[in-house]
Amino acid sequence: MDIDYKLLMDQAKEASKYSYSPFSKFAVGAAVLMSNGNIYTGCNVENSSFGMTICAERCAIFKAVSEGQKEILAVAIYSPNADDCYPCGACRQVMYEFQGENEISIITESKGNPVIRKMKDFLPYGFRI
Ligand code: THU
Repeated sequence: MDIDYKLLMDQAKEASKYSYSPFSKFAVGAAVLMSNGNIYTGCNVENSSFGMTICAERCAIFKAVSEGQKEILAVAIYSPNADDCYPCGACRQVMYEFQGENEISIITESKGNPVIRKMKDFLPYGFRI
């Protein structure tokens, strides 16, 4: 399937507008493309009890999985507060869990330009049972 990287990044940007991040003031948006062509978006959602916070990437992935989509093709991540915003280690492991036959593409944005990398660049030797 052809991946529309720009569309995915646009969706991540749109999702970042819904970020609930009054504590860190660090907004993040994510968009995941699943193997059936569906796109799910997510934003970081913080909490007064800080450990309850969920990252944008996991928010989007859990939306997809909870609607029956378990194979990620690509993930776009955007923060208006950081150039080239990377996924945290926890989100990398969750992405890895839902990698299918095709290696996941991870899209970020640096100085206004898309940067496309592969899952193994972010998490070599990921854990799976
Ligand atoms: N955050 C994400 O949403 N995704 C990441 O991969 C890294 C961190 C959020 C969590 C928290 O709300 C804020 O960024 C600062 O850590």
